[in-house]
Amino acid sequence: MNGRATDQGTVLVTGANRGLGLEYCRQLAAAGWQVLACTRNPDRAPALRELARAHPGRVRVLPLDVVDEANVDALASDLGGLPVDMLINNAGTFGPEGSPAGMRYQSLAHMDYGIWRDILEVNLLAPFRLTVALAPSLRLAPRPVVVMLSSDLGSIANNRMGHSHAYRTSKAGLNMLTKGIANEWRDLIIISMAPGWCRTELGGAEAEIDPAESVREQLRTFARLDASHSGQFLDRFGAQVAW
Ligand SMILES: NC(=O)c1ccc[n+]([C@@H]2O[C@H](COP(=O)([O-])OP(=O)(O)OC[C@H]3O[C@@H](n4cnc5c(N)ncnc54)[C@H](OP(=O)(O)O)[C@@H]3O)[C@@H](O)[C@H]2O)c1
Repeated sequence: MNGRATDQGTVLVTGANRGLGLEYCRQLAAAGWQVLACTRNPDRAPALRELARAHPGRVRVLPLDVVDEANVDALASDLGGLPVDMLINNAGTFGPEGSPAGMRYQSLAHMDYGIWRDILEVNLLAPFRLTVALAPSLRLAPRPVVVMLSSDLGSIANNRMGHSHAYRTSKAGLNMLTKGIANEWRDLIIISMAPGWCRTELGGAEAEIDPAESVREQLRTFARLDASHSGQFLDRFGAQVAW
């Protein structure tokens, strides 16, 4: 892949077929970004394909299962010399059922260790692997930004209820990666983002926030980021969340 299609730059979004991922793609494409919309199954991503049709040449749908190491490496090498201005590590899971049903198999009484491992693979190991794999492409951009989709449930300071242990530990671990990568790689801006409780498959129908609204606020926050924000845990408005 070569060439920069737009002035805004290029963004790569994982888990782009639904929920917050699809919303990032919609709003960033509308704002003039070149969008590399990654989904593990492009054939089952009708909304994304429709978006690509509406923005020919600007939205590209790419296959990516974030836990598949070979797939990640192939994507990184296919990017070639294309600068990636923003990586949104959005793909995430609460287990096979969203909230609140998925709380059962990550409780003290009924922990499913297989599901816990899968959650850690997707939410914790995969964003690390993809960020490392894409670092050369990010470094070709003038102001590279990496967004780790974290959660208020990943805050240790704000954990007053327990429950959701598998998901919480995955996001708390992700926050540690954000801080660690920021300390080592000072030539890029990396943040953890708590998007708020959003009405998606993961968040469930009872959630408080429309995903489009959350993404609108997040994009305002991303636009304001500078080096001083790197390593921070922010909410969608740009306020710091306690670790
Ligand atoms: N919704 C909320 O209230 C909320 C709150 C805090 C944080 N977050 C975080 O925000 C991010 C997006 O969540 P969402 O609410 O939009 O959830 P969602 O609607 O359930 O979407 C999750 C996305 O992740 C993808 N995904 C899961 N496993 C994958 C894999 N192995 N490879 C590639 N893609 C994979 C899914 O793809 P498939 O369709 O192929 O399964 C889907 O596109 C997640 O990291 C989540 O933890 C959400």
